[in-house]
Amino acid sequence: MTPLNNFINKYGLTNKTLILYSCYYDSEKSLASVNSNFYYITGLNIPNLLVVYTQNKHHFIYKNTNGWDDDHSILRPLYNLYGKKTIIYTPENLPILAEHFPKKILTLNNFSELALSFKTEHTKISKNFLTDTQTLTNLASNSRKFKSKKELSNIVKATQYTVRGFRTMLSEFKKKKLNTSYKVVNYIKCFWGNNNIFSLAYNPICTSGSSNSILHSNQYHYKFKSNELVLLDMACKYNNYCSDITRTFPVNGKFTPEQKIIYNIVLDINTFAIKTVKPGMDWFNLQNKCLLRLYNSLENINLFTKVKRNYDKKIKLAALLMKHSLGHTIGIDVHDIPVNDFKENMVITIEPGIYFEAHLYNNSNINTKELKKYFSIGGIRIEDIILIGSKNAKNLSPLAKTTYGIEKLMNNY
Ligand code: GLY
Ligand code: MN
Ligand code: MN
Repeated sequence: MTPLNNFINKYGLTNKTLILYSCYYDSEKSLASVNSNFYYITGLNIPNLLVVYTQNKHHFIYKNTNGWDDDHSILRPLYNLYGKKTIIYTPENLPILAEHFPKKILTLNNFSELALSFKTEHTKISKNFLTDTQTLTNLASNSRKFKSKKELSNIVKATQYTVRGFRTMLSEFKKKKLNTSYKVVNYIKCFWGNNNIFSLAYNPICTSGSSNSILHSNQYHYKFKSNELVLLDMACKYNNYCSDITRTFPVNGKFTPEQKIIYNIVLDINTFAIKTVKPGMDWFNLQNKCLLRLYNSLENINLFTKVKRNYDKKIKLAALLMKHSLGHTIGIDVHDIPVNDFKENMVITIEPGIYFEAHLYNNSNINTKELKKYFSIGGIRIEDIILIGSKNAKNLSPLAKTTYGIEKLMNNY
């Protein structure tokens, strides 16, 4: 059974008419980014493609690039999934098919983008039919929150390759003199390429020292200094499913005592969150438990002035140092369908961090004398991929994360 038929049968849509549009792609202008619900429903990661399902049959319409792109290999997955004899139509066929459409058609919420690839055809369709963008979008989005065995195995694979990339890079880091962001990122990209993995889950983040506090830096010019920490947040995709891992490690292979103190506070939140998360709990609750724990740890190292504070104030202060959320769901998108409550078969990231930024010096709650000791660390984040099971959670990213484990990898002992 094809992915599309599976979806249609599962949700009783056999006598409906569906028009699904993948995405617009012009190789001179953009990177192809196929709509995630389109991929989920059709199993196809092909730009400029329209899938029409009507009267119990599916039809594929592709905007041929006339040799500008490798149409043949782009379309190969379509033949693999839907049969070697599948006929692929050109855009002019859409109005012909549309003659038999009912008044109402189901589409995804990227329907208006159709106008970019199939301009004339789109105008006709939007004039003549009522389009319901919500039904399919909701069905796909709700279903995507829970990973099937196959989806999970793709995430596990993406995570395994990501872990191996990190491990190999860390053990070669000193020998290969990987002393810039560019070299680190490219070393791992090459490792994946040699294993036939060519898709990244997102723009890698590789910073060092004070730049570690830039959460989504997409610059790769950073030259590492010997006493700095490198923050590397990088992952690949496998069969269109993402991983997302972060490790923070010392350039010279040895954490300083100050780096160790902050690192162990972040690691404690990471392991606490993984141990605590379970079905029935919600993000808000878990995040606040972690922020309170973070506050207490930072209070213990005297980073805050000695004042009595209520719960809300403690949470707010901790959130000033951990300026992003504790994690997110992951799947076809690196930031997948948002959820409030954790349920079995959801896959999430847990990624606590501490970041030191100049504005902290102006905050009267911060003990600036202590802040000075740690400020040059810039930032530390430790991120893992977690599967929510029936009773608790399982870490899918078995990559060293204690200071000892990281030093061991980097110094090969
Ligand atoms: N890599 C982006 C994130 O961790 O959310
Ligand atoms: Mn993440
Ligand atoms: Mn990440």
